[in-house]
Amino acid sequence: MGRVEGKACVVTGAGSGIGKATAERLAEEGGRVICVDLSGVTATQTADGIRSAGGIAEAVAADVSDPAQVNALIARCVDAYGHIDVLVNNAGVNIPGVFHEVTDAVIDRTLNVNVKGAMYGSRAAIPHMLRDGGGSIINMSSVNGLVSEPFLAVYSASKGAVVMLTRGIALDYARQGIRCNAICPGWVDTPINYAHAEMLGGLQKVYDSISSFQPIGRPGLPIEIAHLALFLASNEASFITGAIISADGGMTAQ
Ligand SMILES: NC(=O)c1ccc[n+]([C@@H]2O[C@H](COP(=O)([O-])OP(=O)(O)OC[C@H]3O[C@@H](n4cnc5c(N)ncnc54)[C@H](O)[C@@H]3O)[C@@H](O)[C@H]2O)c1
Repeated sequence: MGRVEGKACVVTGAGSGIGKATAERLAEEGGRVICVDLSGVTATQTADGIRSAGGIAEAVAADVSDPAQVNALIARCVDAYGHIDVLVNNAGVNIPGVFHEVTDAVIDRTLNVNVKGAMYGSRAAIPHMLRDGGGSIINMSSVNGLVSEPFLAVYSASKGAVVMLTRGIALDYARQGIRCNAICPGWVDTPINYAHAEMLGGLQKVYDSISSFQPIGRPGLPIEIAHLALFLASNEASFITGAIISADGGMTAQ
């Protein structure tokens, strides 16, 4: 039996990077996965890849910053699989900038996707989880929910909010079987970082000097975050709720 055998899982931002690896890892361990992304093309690629490998998955194109679309995608999971056991609020944007030059649009987009997206997903999933006796919500925060970096004030504010959203939901539903935890990845090798890397002098320069901020001396891999998400989704994490867990190559140990 797989570690999440038969569990109905929704992973947002599943078309790329950490979300894609998480959707694949959950499916490898028996999860039935709804792969959600803004881009229907990449969501479909992830779901097709899972099915080709013998797993169970469907793709949904949705914008997590739109509550109507989020309600619909959670309903789709319940229609397809009968319930929702695992929600990974992973979709995110990182639009770096000099803080006093940041536009209203950037502030709104960052908060709408990173913070409200996780609120909308959790709000829609929780009634189903209550009905069925519990579930696991995993929010993808960041080391920037704990410490900030140059050019990331708005992103950091959004990820700090995700930390407190996680704690709040965990407390509200602890007695009802719903666990809610956050993962705080360090620098992981995915496209979300490319704009930030440009502001720091380019990706190669960042990677050449990565030991100066990430003690393990290399970027993380999406699968290294997916393994932790799988653990939190599984019953192995039954006593863990309200936890904010770094997977950051030692970055926040400094
Ligand atoms: N890569 C890192 O170093 C790192 C570090 C800490 C935290 N994170 C967080 O991990 C999460 C995943 O990021 P990633 O590194 O895999 O980046 P990524 O760019 O590879 O993937 C992000 C995915 O989210 C999707 N997305 C963006 N806005 C969306 C929306 N409104 N609705 C639905 N989907 C949307 C994108 O289309 C993309 O497929 C993000 O929340 C990010 O903030 C990443």
